[in-house]
Amino acid sequence: MRLDKFLAEASVATRTLMRTYIKAGYVTVNGEVVLIPEFEIDEHNDIIKYQDLQITHTVKQYYMFHKPGGCITARQDANCKTVLDYFDTVNTNALFPVGRLDKDTEGLLFLTNDGTFGHHLTQPGKNVMKKYYFWALGSLNEDAEKRLKEGFRIEKEGSITRPATINVISVGRYQEFKNEIEEVVSINQKRLGQQPVISGYLTISEGHKHQVKRMLRAVGCGVIYLKRISIGEIALDLSLEKGQFRTLTELEVCTLMGRVPIANTENDKN
Ligand code: URA
Repeated sequence: MRLDKFLAEASVATRTLMRTYIKAGYVTVNGEVVLIPEFEIDEHNDIIKYQDLQITHTVKQYYMFHKPGGCITARQDANCKTVLDYFDTVNTNALFPVGRLDKDTEGLLFLTNDGTFGHHLTQPGKNVMKKYYFWALGSLNEDAEKRLKEGFRIEKEGSITRPATINVISVGRYQEFKNEIEEVVSINQKRLGQQPVISGYLTISEGHKHQVKRMLRAVGCGVIYLKRISIGEIALDLSLEKGQFRTLTELEVCTLMGRVPIANTENDKN
């Protein structure tokens, strides 16, 4: 592997900066200063140091996972299946879920070993939009939609929610949507026949515990099914069945991080 690529992948600095640092003599390979960014190293056996700090080879992992209901968003749990249990074919030593979905929530979840990536997507200030599809018992009047769109106080002591986007898809009685609803959720439908139901998309930029359920509950709708379908610009891959995952492409990672893919920079000759 090329020396500059190795150091950039280890997050020492960007590839461009790394080339400058190598040429400036900050990097040694097996004790010898190497001034050539393209220098080929054996990343598993050579000892690479940047300003006397040994750099180990870490392969960054980024996955898109279609979380099924019934598993918890944690690395491990004594009693319950976790999202990590679905990753039996990859090295999960440093893998962690980015943000969390409730046990009964399905849909898009990223897992990574890259702390910067995780931090970027969950930091409140970054305002990353998350879109959810829901079914709920209840209905939304104009005032409720306005409150969701403009932001409102869910709990007496709580802060005001950030403006959300609400797109209602179906409104009616449980009976009318019975088949659609029961495809995604198994609930005791006795006496639900004439209950008002609503489905739609709610897009929010916050990530507080049970945020969607709490927001909808506060305007009179009890969520019975919730699925996250996108985070930022990246939507859940429709070819992923529940419980399946795939590697995120470099373009997807860069899109989520708001940066240009390394492959598109003039420094990527490899
Ligand atoms: N909001 C919720 O209420 N639950 C989730 O799992 C995610 C967002």
